[in-house]
This record gives sequence, structure tokens and C-alpha cells, in this order.
Amino acid sequence: MNYRQADIAELDSRFRAHLINSLTGFKSVALCGTRSANGVTNLSILSSVVHLGSNPPLYGMIFRPETVRRDTLNNIRSQGVFTLNHIHEDFLYEAHQTSASYAEEESEFEATNLTPAYLADVDAPFVKESRVKLGMRYVREIPIEENGTLMLIGEVIYIELPEEIMAEDGYAVIADAGTLTVSGLDAYHAPMKLARLTYAKPDKPVESADSFYSTPPAR
Ligand SMILES: Cc1cc2nc3c(=O)[nH]c(=O)nc-3n(C[C@H](O)[C@H](O)[C@H](O)COP(=O)(O)O)c2cc1C
Repeated sequence: MNYRQADIAELDSRFRAHLINSLTGFKSVALCGTRSANGVTNLSILSSVVHLGSNPPLYGMIFRPETVRRDTLNNIRSQGVFTLNHIHEDFLYEAHQTSASYAEEESEFEATNLTPAYLADVDAPFVKESRVKLGMRYVREIPIEENGTLMLIGEVIYIELPEEIMAEDGYAVIADAGTLTVSGLDAYHAPMKLARLTYAKPDKPVESADSFYSTPPAR
């Protein structure tokens, strides 16, 4: 089947949202932990975190238009710090539940029974149950004028993950941590690792570099 531009424009808006959102492919999905100026903790699920560069270590994430109150965005702006926590099967339903519109003074941690944890000097709550936790610093934001969304840029300032998932060259084998992925707005998947491949060069076909999956010897 196919959809031409005019067909896409005429689709029911929820149908179009599911269709267009699912076709970017599998996406990262994480719980964003923040705290308000009044000390109320907040947790929201986000599937738009992308890598912008490793030096400095920057990620970008897209926030929906501010036509309604956006607690996560407001907290990041006022406190300058937030956390990103990978999602695993054992708390998938709780993670999805955080997308509900809770009142400003209500904490999604309490509503879902996920546990806030404070690590290093990061002044925002991590999710204790998550096996891969990132502390982030607000850098700046870029408005997307076409639709009122915005890209928020954050710098990675803290990383906590199981030593067993670290490959020798720095790749974190997140499939082994049980990190989930999402497609569309609500379809969660447990990814299966297939292969890591060698660096591609014009004169040499790529090969499997599966030995990179080997974890360092126990120290
Ligand atoms: C799978 C999934 C992914 C989502 N990704 C985003 C996202 O990338 N950006 C965003 O602004 N909202 C996203 N949302 C919606 C937010 O989770 C939702 O608006 C939430 O209520 C925001 O909470 P807050 O007002 O406490 O910030 C997503 C929801 C789901 C279910």
C-alpha cells in the first residue's frame, strides 16, 4: 500500500501520529528524572533522545509544544540538571504510566512506585531500578519553528552501568543490560543483538567483529 502527500494530509490525526511516529524506526526510550524548584520529583518517558556528539558528550531530545504544562521541561530549565534512565522489562508498565498527565504537585515516582535515587553530585533523581543511569546538564534549546516543538541539548555529566556490559573498546552492550527499545508511541521491544561490524572502508568489505562483545577479564 502507499500513501501520497495528499493522503497523509487527510488522515485522521491519531492514525497519522501512529503511522508517522512508527516509521522512523526503533528508537531509544528512557525515563527522564527531574525535580522542581519546590522539590517535587518528576519522571517522564521520552523516546527522542539522540546522540549529537561525544566530545563534548551531547545528546538532544525533542519536547512537544508548550500548549499544556510541561513539568519535565520546566524543571530542567529551572534546575539545570536531569537524569536519563534506561527502561527494562521488569518495570515497563510503570515506565509507560509516567506518560499520564499527573498534577504538578504529584510525583510520578510515587504514582508508579519507582524509587528515586541520588548519585554523585547530580541534583536530580535517578531511577534506582534502572541498570543504566545517566546524569545530564542542561546546555541550551533550539525551537523548531515548523511545529512548535523544541530540541533540548544536554551534556552527559555522570554515567553508571554494570561493569559486565562494558566491551573492551568502550561500547556498552546495552542489550545485555536488558535495555528496551520502542517504536511508535507505545510498542516496546526487547532487542536481539546480531553483530558488531568492522569499521567500513571503501577497499575492504566489512566483517563481523563479534569479539568486541567480549567483556574485559575480571579484575
Ligand atoms: C513511548 C513514549 C515516548 C514519549 N516521548 C516523548 C518525547 O520524546 N518528548 C515529549 O515531549 N514527550 C514524549 N512523550 C510524552 C510524555 O511522556 C508525556 O507528555 C508526559 O506526560 C510528560 O510529563 P511531564 O509533564 O511531567 O513532563 C512520550 C510518551 C510515550 C508513551
